[in-house]
Amino acid sequence: MSKDYPKRRVGIINGGGDCPGINTVIDSIVRVLEKKYEILGFVRGFEGLYTNEYMILDRELTNNYKFHGGTFLKTVNKGNFPGKTGLGQKQPIDAKVLEITQKNYKDLKLQALIVIGGDGTLTIASTFCELGIPVICVPKSIDNDLQGTLFSFGFLSSVEIATEALDKLETTSFSHDRVMILEVMGRNAGWISLFSGIAGGANVILIPEIEFSFENVLEFLKKRGKPNALIVVAEGASPKNSGAILSDLGENSSEVIFGGIGEKLAKYLNTESDFEARCTKLGHIQRGGSPISFDRILSRQYGVAAAQALLDGEFGKMVSFDGQNFGLKKLEDCVNILKNVKEDSSMVDNAKQLGIYFGG
Ligand code: F6P
Repeated sequence: MSKDYPKRRVGIINGGGDCPGINTVIDSIVRVLEKKYEILGFVRGFEGLYTNEYMILDRELTNNYKFHGGTFLKTVNKGNFPGKTGLGQKQPIDAKVLEITQKNYKDLKLQALIVIGGDGTLTIASTFCELGIPVICVPKSIDNDLQGTLFSFGFLSSVEIATEALDKLETTSFSHDRVMILEVMGRNAGWISLFSGIAGGANVILIPEIEFSFENVLEFLKKRGKPNALIVVAEGASPKNSGAILSDLGENSSEVIFGGIGEKLAKYLNTESDFEARCTKLGHIQRGGSPISFDRILSRQYGVAAAQALLDGEFGKMVSFDGQNFGLKKLEDCVNILKNVKEDSSMVDNAKQLGIYFGG
């Protein structure tokens, strides 16, 4: 044991978009590990390890944030550690950046990293793992598109917000006899759309995994014979023979952000039929605020399981949840493979039996 650091040291890193429950996971890890480890929380994800910016975490501090949304460690999903770029392509990390980051890790005498993130961040974590740094990962994604776990924390908080939005849109849909369209997040996976659509009573659910066309949606609405309807569409859903619809962030931005499919569909319905359509893009509202109770419980469990994995020396693994138990899966079996909604799943089939249309 080093003279300078009487306790062994471990680092916590969160990366990618913020998400309800990150602070809960961090507080849970700290509660389990603080007696044995000095815990460094790196600021803005891997950037903090690269620039040596960190906070010493103890329960006194993390307890203040335990059920706050976002992350008190701050986060980025661009910069020196992009993980994924464009439409989700893996992006290599600059060799010099990697070298400095590894050196900082060594100089700080860290024993391991616990990394909280989605597919992009966990891809970066797997790179460090390959370089010999012991890593344990926790799946974070409102999109719920990480392979190897039933629910990543944050997902159901987003679903709750989207469901509430549909409940609110329903009143205008009914009062004005309008087709109200809600565009939700989900670049490659339609989980938020599917779950909130069922919970919020949508008539049409459009997701990236199921091919659809505007013409089919219009046909369905006509056959249904009512002037009002609720449609929920994932930002990454694109109609047959069309690529993903992207948001324009201006010429100074090189980021690829999805968005605009809802507006496009509203325009189509307004132009091609007598339906009166309006679109609401839920945007970052669905990623903000405190975790709902289920996500608090999930984040608590994920945090404890990650800390336990560290104590057991189970490195190169991601904590997973199967609906009953928290276990560990090899990191390489969880990253770079997205978990998508399956068109032939009973969930989609049951939704169809309830009269929900998927546009195909
Ligand atoms: O966290 C994933 C996600 O919520 C996607 O669904 C969405 O496309 C993206 O983040 C938005 O990212 P940003 O905060 O960079 O706009």
